[in-house]
Amino acid sequence: MPKHVLLCPPTHFDVVDQKNPYMSGKSPVDKGKAQRQWQALCSALEQSGCQVETIDPVAGLEDMVFAANQVFVGYSEAVGRFVIPSRMVYASRQREVPHFVEWFRKRGYKVIELDISNDRLEGHGDLLWHPGWSRIYAGYGFRTTRGGVEKLAAEMSKIGVPVIPLQLVDPFCYHLDTCLCPLNDESVLIYPGAYSQDALATLRPFWKRIHELTAEEAHRFMGNGIVSNETYITPYVTDHLQTILELEGIKPVMVDTSEFEKSGGSAFCMKAFLP
Ligand code: ARG
Repeated sequence: MPKHVLLCPPTHFDVVDQKNPYMSGKSPVDKGKAQRQWQALCSALEQSGCQVETIDPVAGLEDMVFAANQVFVGYSEAVGRFVIPSRMVYASRQREVPHFVEWFRKRGYKVIELDISNDRLEGHGDLLWHPGWSRIYAGYGFRTTRGGVEKLAAEMSKIGVPVIPLQLVDPFCYHLDTCLCPLNDESVLIYPGAYSQDALATLRPFWKRIHELTAEEAHRFMGNGIVSNETYITPYVTDHLQTILELEGIKPVMVDTSEFEKSGGSAFCMKAFLP
């Protein structure tokens, strides 16, 4: 069965403010190029065996193309397929959330609303599953708050899923998905400089093989790739990354995401895998 994946066309994509250090606005977004890059990402996903589904873009929601952030998507035997709506830091991004919640609700997902109040939780920007739904890694510090992670952990404890809080310290790695990328059940790509010392010590024992990216690689989104059927969809590849992927039996597939990098995102954050 093909893996289903949700994306949002970049019809209204733009950089209009500075939500992260990449969004300097120095060179404006080339809309035509963004559209072509997004299309190429869809093709790469399809070629790796995924079935692409889309949500309608909404005018005025310039970051909606980053379809990883608006809800946390999960699966458990007890609950089935569920989503937990995000509580985004930025107001324009918060307005994206109801559109995604509706999309999932219509398709039968259980919607689990957390009482997040003043905390923040940014979906798969900061929350990543260990392959096989056994555990959740939860980054906090720039977007998601420690309190948000604790509220998620309380909810997930009801279905027996542990949540591992990881403090992030590098503003260029403001979301966990820029510095943690599980390659398979045993191995992971990380950029160690993105974590507090405690977080790094917490993270290590969960993996048999930890492959470390350099700052340069991480800041060029090489840790923000998509693993799909033994391929790694990435905006760039270095000899170092190539060697790591070979060791893990994974083939790199390059997809240019330069327009989206102007907004602080690349391949991983432009999609949500559906259970
Ligand atoms: N401009 C978007 C923001 O700052 C980019 C989000 C990228 N998403 C991600 N999961 N890293 O919110």
